[in-house]
Amino acid sequence: MSKTIIFSVDSYATETAHYIADMINKICKSKDSCSVALAGGQTPKRVYQVIAEESAKNYIPWDKVDIFFGDERCVPPNHQDSNYRMAELKLFSKLKTKPRNIFRIAGEKNNFSVAAKEYEKVLPEQFDLLLLGIGNDGHTASLFPNADTLHETKMRVMPTKSPLPPFSRITITPPVIKSAKNILVLATGNKKTEVVNNAMKKQLSIDECPATILLNATWLLDEDIKLNQIK
Ligand code: 6PG
Repeated sequence: MSKTIIFSVDSYATETAHYIADMINKICKSKDSCSVALAGGQTPKRVYQVIAEESAKNYIPWDKVDIFFGDERCVPPNHQDSNYRMAELKLFSKLKTKPRNIFRIAGEKNNFSVAAKEYEKVLPEQFDLLLLGIGNDGHTASLFPNADTLHETKMRVMPTKSPLPPFSRITITPPVIKSAKNILVLATGNKKTEVVNNAMKKQLSIDECPATILLNATWLLDEDIKLNQIK
């Protein structure tokens, strides 16, 4: 069952950072490791920054946390469009205790299929925590409308094309999303109102709105996103 939590615009980054930190801490108390897949894009930037700024206070045992990525752009890890670079700048570089492992998708490789296969090999059976965003077209990770990846049932990581640059991406597929133990969807801003409502109402097909796939997710939204009554 989906859950929705709405924070004020001003407190969104801090509240979302606390929510994520609390969840990671809870998981780390129940087992000796925690696999966390990070979302890319702009929305998580400030959230990761707050997690890093408060790392002394939020007691995340980073040496028990294995970091993964839900998707990556096919660019070098120091490229401005790299999801890894964003997380490195906003989070990893600021942490005194580093995560136990950071599994980066090698988007810089020329052969995207090889990069996808290599990444698939290091994926855990299930993510303990999967962070995702949602694009204005309803994509999540790099699962874009009408893409073959949306109907993949075997491969867990695939190269794909994005309608927006960087056009080449590598993404986890629906089986990985469906198997995640906890999914948090981060979305802010009035522009996401329609697509968030579409994803929640489940009236569009997965090809029309890939985020429809997010069944048992917790949506962390700011108050600029107006949820209409979901019939
Ligand atoms: C990416 C993300 C993508 C992102 C959405 C929302 O690589 O861009 O994985 O799925 O989460 O596009 O992006 P914003 O947070 O920038 O709106």
